[in-house]
Formats: sequence, structure tokens, C-alpha cells
Amino acid sequence: MPFHDFRQFLDVMRQQGELVDINQPITLTDVGKALKHAYAKGRKATRFNKNGTEFPLVCGVYSSRKHALIAFETDEKNVTQKVLDGLNNPIKPKISNGGGAPCQEVVITDDIDIRRFPIPTYSPKDGGPYITPGIVVSKDPETGVPDIGHYRFLILDKDTVSFSAQPFHRFGKNLTKCQQMGVTPKAALIIGVDPILAYTCQVQVPDQTNDWEVAGGLRGAPVELTPCKTCDVEVPATSEVVIEFEVDMNNTVMEGPLGEYTGYYTPASLKPVAKITAITHRKQPIFQGLLTGKPVTENHILKQIPFEASFLRALKAQFPTVVDVSVRASAGVSFFVVIAMKPRFKGEPRQVILNAMSSNIRPKWTVIVEPDIDVHNSAEVEWAMAFRTQPQEDVIIVGDIPAGPSDPSIDDPKVARPMRTASAIGVDATRPFGKPFSEVADVPGWEDFEVPELDAWR
Ligand SMILES: Cc1cc2nc3c(=O)[nH]c(=O)nc-3n(C[C@H](O)[C@H](O)[C@H](O)COP(=O)(O)O)c2cc1C
Repeated sequence: MPFHDFRQFLDVMRQQGELVDINQPITLTDVGKALKHAYAKGRKATRFNKNGTEFPLVCGVYSSRKHALIAFETDEKNVTQKVLDGLNNPIKPKISNGGGAPCQEVVITDDIDIRRFPIPTYSPKDGGPYITPGIVVSKDPETGVPDIGHYRFLILDKDTVSFSAQPFHRFGKNLTKCQQMGVTPKAALIIGVDPILAYTCQVQVPDQTNDWEVAGGLRGAPVELTPCKTCDVEVPATSEVVIEFEVDMNNTVMEGPLGEYTGYYTPASLKPVAKITAITHRKQPIFQGLLTGKPVTENHILKQIPFEASFLRALKAQFPTVVDVSVRASAGVSFFVVIAMKPRFKGEPRQVILNAMSSNIRPKWTVIVEPDIDVHNSAEVEWAMAFRTQPQEDVIIVGDIPAGPSDPSIDDPKVARPMRTASAIGVDATRPFGKPFSEVADVPGWEDFEVPELDAWR
């Protein structure tokens, strides 16, 4: 059975010893330090009960692979297949006609003050308090197809925020379309949901995909939605908090800096201003926080499993002998990918490299290995890169392609982000196709060879 809501997931996390209640008082500017501490001490999720506001703040719910497996209700061996099965079997959402949804137990349209909620300033040079785990629900203004995705929100004052939406992410594309059509963009930011919805945001699917159907597939049950009060989108009925807003595309403000998933601050730049039109929430809502920054953080864990599964699926459609994909959390997830395949003809690994580079993942580094290499094991990948490549023949560098967002090595404040390009590298670490190659010096049969003293010791 999928998790009904955020609360049920937190109960299971607590039962499994993965959620710790913090009752010592904490200021919202110290939450980042406490979370860094938690990352270093076993990556437990934390619930800050005394944070100076009337609502508890839960952080770290996506901070480890173990938490992700609890969310997906499976184990390491089966998780990719579970995600693939979900992607292959989408389930339509159930939309209620409104009324009675838990997320609208409290409806605020007058005297809106977002600052009542515990919203930390995470890294000392951040441009202000940020909502980092929020999920934007928006619609393509032309087709009405809904999208969900994580986008960060800077708090400017009680009912005004700014945000960052990269032009190649769907909310960014929806905003551009609204601007072209002369429509005011309206959307909702949801906080505190069934964790599968958060992982669904990171699944890479074509633009006209209804993300609720993807989420339904991954949950194995429909997502229950309810219409918002002041905008034409539907949100999960059991969300803890829903912030409805409209965007003034002609009004910009400096947004940032923010300690980012690259491990560096992204500088402040001009971004649109949004006005909050309503806040609705459950009774005694649980707010959520998320520290991003130098890998590995929650940001990276959130992306890893969905990126791996959806990228594997997309590659397999064209290259059926691709067997596994790893995206490296330690390298900011999408910047370094390793793909295992059995080449069917000379040059096929190069085609896979070029395909990866032109995908929405936009890796800076792509390494192709054969299926005998475990893509998730750095030592094996390095072994293949060391001995199965001749750099002059096996490396491709492509210049001037759309840049991975926020990469500090290409940051040029003078160039607007949509105009930024960079280079990417591919390494074919498969052995030369159809040619003899030295034999691997393994010691076959070692797994079954018994050494009683060693085994007893283990
Ligand atoms: C915690 C977190 C925060 C993110 N913040 C942003 C953001 O502020 N702006 C952005 O463009 N992408 C951000 N991303 C990346 C997008 O959410 C991600 O690429 C997603 O696939 C976009 O989905 P969409 O294109 O379906 O909207 C964030 C990702 C995570 C995990």
C-alpha cells in the first residue's frame, strides 16, 4: 500500500529509527548547521519542534538512499525495476470537486503572511529565507497538461516571493508560453506530500506527460487531487501546506545567492516576482525544509533513483543492449553518468554518448563501460577507464551545447542563463569492438570457495 500522506511516511520513518525529534530550541538561521551535523551523523531526518514558529519543521526526509528505499517500499535490488514498472503503468488521478480536502482545512486569503511558517536561511550567504523542498504544480497554458517539479522560493515579504525556474524545466517553459500568450501565470507550491510525489518530480519524461499519472503509476494507486481556491490547478488533497500564487513576469527582483546542489553559491540574478493569492493548510500542519549544497544532500538523493530509472528506460528504447545506468550523487547527479552496455557494432558506444549529451539530463561527463563493470562501483569504473581506453581514440569532446545549470566552471554573469553553452566529454571505456583484448586476470570460483576461519569470522 502506498503512503497516504506525508504524516504516514514520517510515522514509518520514526518507527524505523530514521526520524529524530529535536526539542532544543533552534533559530531558523541555525537549521543549516544542524542539518550538516545530521548529514555527518548517520543522515537521520530531524523534526525541529521548537523553531520559533507555531509549526514543526521536518528536514532530511530524503537525505539517504535508505530513506528513498523506505519511500519506494522496496530494496536496493528491486528499486529500479519498481520504478520502471510504475513508468510503464501510469494511473490517472482522482479529482474531487473540492470541499473537505484536508489541505484546505484552513484557508487564508486575507492577511496572508508566509513568514508564520518555519522557513530557514540555510547557508550564511543565502539571499534570505528559502523554501527549498516545495513542489510547483503548474499547467501548460495551451494544452492544460499538469506538471510537478521542485523549484526554490525566496521569501521577500509576507505575501511576495521570487523563484528560479530554469528555461529548460517545464515550469520555466510554461511561464514562457504564458508570456507569449499574454496570460498571467498562476500556480501552486505544495509542501509535505507522499514522498513518491517528490521522487516523481525528478523522473525525466516528455513535456506533454501528465505527471499525476506518472505518480499514480509509481504509487500503484491514483493520486487524489483537489482544486485550488484561487488558481486553476489541482493539488494533492492531503498536502500539508499549499501556497497559491500568480507571477508578474514584468516585475523582477534580485533572487539569490543560494548555496546550490553543485556545492557552490549561485550568484543573485533578476527573477520574476510572485504574489501569494492564498495559503491553505491542514490543521496543525507539518512544514518541511531541505538543505542543499555540497554533495551528497537531499537534493541529490531525490534525483538519483528517478534519473537512473528514467534515463535507463529512454536509452534502452534506442539501444536495447544498455543494461544499467548510474548517475553520481557525488558529482551533482546529472554531471557524471556511467552507462553499461554490450556494443552491437563498432562505434555504438559513441552513439550512446552523443545521445546522452543531447538528453535532458545534459551530462558533462559520460562514461560507457561493458556489462561486466558495475556502474555503481567507482573502483570498477576507474579500472575500466584506466585500462580499456586510449584517450586519443576513445574520448569525444563536444563544445557549445546547452550548459548544465549552475555549473560554476562556466558561470559568466554577463551571459544570461538561456544563452549559456559549455562543453561535454564522453569516454568510451569499452574494449575495442571485434578485436582481441588481454584476458581479465580473475580467480574464478572464489565466491564458492570455502575458507571456514574467514567465514566464521565474518
Ligand atoms: C530540491 C530541489 C530543488 C530544485 N530547485 C530547482 C529550481 O529552483 N529551479 C529549477 O529550474 N530546477 C530546480 N530543481 C530541478 C528540477 O526540479 C528538476 O530538474 C525537475 O526534473 C524539473 O521538473 P519539470 O521540468 O517537470 O518541472 C530542483 C530539484 C530539486 C531536487
